[in-house]
Amino acid sequence: MKWAGGKSRLLAELRKHAPAKMGTYAEPFCGGAALYFALASREKRPFERALLADKNGELVACYNAVKTRVDDVIEALRKYKYDRDMFYDIRDRDTRGMSDVERGARLIYLNKTCFNGLWRVNASGKFNVPFGRYKSPRILDEDALRAASAALEPAEIVHGDFTEVTKGLGRGDFAYFDPPYVPVSKTASFTSYASDRFDGAEQERLVAELHRLRARGVKAMLSNAYNEETQDLYREFATYVVDAPRSINSDPRKRQSISELIVTTWGKPVAERGKRA
Ligand SMILES: C[S@@+](CC[C@H](N)C(=O)[O-])C[C@H]1O[C@@H](n2cnc3c(N)ncnc32)[C@H](O)[C@@H]1O
Repeated sequence: MKWAGGKSRLLAELRKHAPAKMGTYAEPFCGGAALYFALASREKRPFERALLADKNGELVACYNAVKTRVDDVIEALRKYKYDRDMFYDIRDRDTRGMSDVERGARLIYLNKTCFNGLWRVNASGKFNVPFGRYKSPRILDEDALRAASAALEPAEIVHGDFTEVTKGLGRGDFAYFDPPYVPVSKTASFTSYASDRFDGAEQERLVAELHRLRARGVKAMLSNAYNEETQDLYREFATYVVDAPRSINSDPRKRQSISELIVTTWGKPVAERGKRA
């Protein structure tokens, strides 16, 4: 799934820091779940079970449908065409009352055919990205869907706040947090994945959660934008600066590389702060 803030470009760095073995793997802001899929697709998974959460109910319905009813999702996707009128008809449908399979197929279709593959909703939570121009978008990729279904097998996927899947974590478990980023500038606010915003108070609630996890011996890793605000928020943790190319800008010439911060609840806070990974 192409997802805003998708982590495929940071994967090598994230994997370097992730422990080789863990009891439970948790990804409380899963989005496209790039790190989860990378770890779960290995021949020998480094975890026994996994907990994924996201506030986006359409995304969670999609993962649950792909996990448990992949054949039905594939059948549902066969009906979709790359067509402007069909796109707006499907986009504007109310998903309340739809099954997870219908919601999941709809999300995959919109993700593959909308402008830039972005998921963005308006204030009332309705997906509002326009039709995208592609040569021939791959709406149905059976092999990828079956691989995703197998990879999701050990995962419980929860619709809700990040704290839903961190409550039960203890020593030996690992959590990777990829929250909506602190904006680089006031105008570059990029927090509208779900209808409510992830503002400064939310960022602080997350820092408090990392402190609690550290106290319980949970290894937690987090990525965020690299700026003064995040350096200050995570000053009591070990942090690493990495350069990651960004793909979110619709103009390829403006997709420059920007620095991101990786935070871990283990390692030395002061000595390693700001160290380039
Ligand atoms: C940066 S994206 C994650 C990208 C992901 N790591 C990937 O590789 O595609 C952040 C995600 O957090 C979700 N989100 C926002 N607020 C949340 C909250 N309070 N609890 C859980 N998820 C939340 C958004 O719906 C979005 O999917």
